[in-house]
Amino acid sequence: MERTNIINTLSEKAIRNDLKNKLIGNKLIVFETIDSTNKYIKENVLEEGTVVIANEQTQGVGRKGRSFLSPANGAYFSFVLNPNIEFADVQSLTICVAVAVTNALKKVFDFEPDIKWVNDIYYDNKKLCGILTELNISKETKKIDKIIVGIGLNTGVVDNEVSDIATSVADIVKNDIDRNKIIAEILNEFEEIYINNILGKDIGNIIELYKSRLFIIGREVIATNGESSYKCLVKDMGANGELVVEREDGEIVSLNSGEVSLVINR
Ligand code: BTN
Repeated sequence: MERTNIINTLSEKAIRNDLKNKLIGNKLIVFETIDSTNKYIKENVLEEGTVVIANEQTQGVGRKGRSFLSPANGAYFSFVLNPNIEFADVQSLTICVAVAVTNALKKVFDFEPDIKWVNDIYYDNKKLCGILTELNISKETKKIDKIIVGIGLNTGVVDNEVSDIATSVADIVKNDIDRNKIIAEILNEFEEIYINNILGKDIGNIIELYKSRLFIIGREVIATNGESSYKCLVKDMGANGELVVEREDGEIVSLNSGEVSLVINR
């Protein structure tokens, strides 16, 4: 008989036990069910470093206003930062979150996930984790006054309806799944990169790590930016995180925003 992985209960105490951080995780708020952890952070005044965690979200938010399916047994969490950084650095921050998530997955579960530009984590061509970075801009200074980083990691078995495009830790590993440990480890990995590389303004090695996990280099994708969508071949990623693609007419284009989707022939 096939064995199902045991997924432990989320617990503030257990997460704190594995946390090494000074800033991220200074306050932990754990919910069984919430509408959206990003929304909670947007609507409440919280200390920098506060992490809001949920087992389930009823209105999980994805990029481009899409919804993010967040059934029970997941690891959905968001944290708040108030850094003194420019808009141009937000893309680097997102890249660092993707590297932190992949480092932590390798450390805790011993598998090597892939990254799909700009901030999806994939395994075996299926989405495992989504990352949403949102900004609050101060009306007075017009500068960033709050950054909300939301991470949605599928840990429970995914629904049959989406099993063609989505996967989860439970679908990948055979052992039991310690959600508290993976959340703590992602936060630990991120804080280290945040302090050393983002605030230290030295993300060269993080870009290299990101690139080494970017499984779309050399693959055909559909790039979408605003209204326009076209098929192209991914050639490289530049030093600032921009994706270099070759269009079907041979033109080389650098993408700074938008997103790409895989062309998969199953
Ligand atoms: C995407 O793939 O489009 C991004 C998904 C981000 C989902 C996470 S789950 C935790 C946080 N709360 C939300 O409502 N969204 C983010």
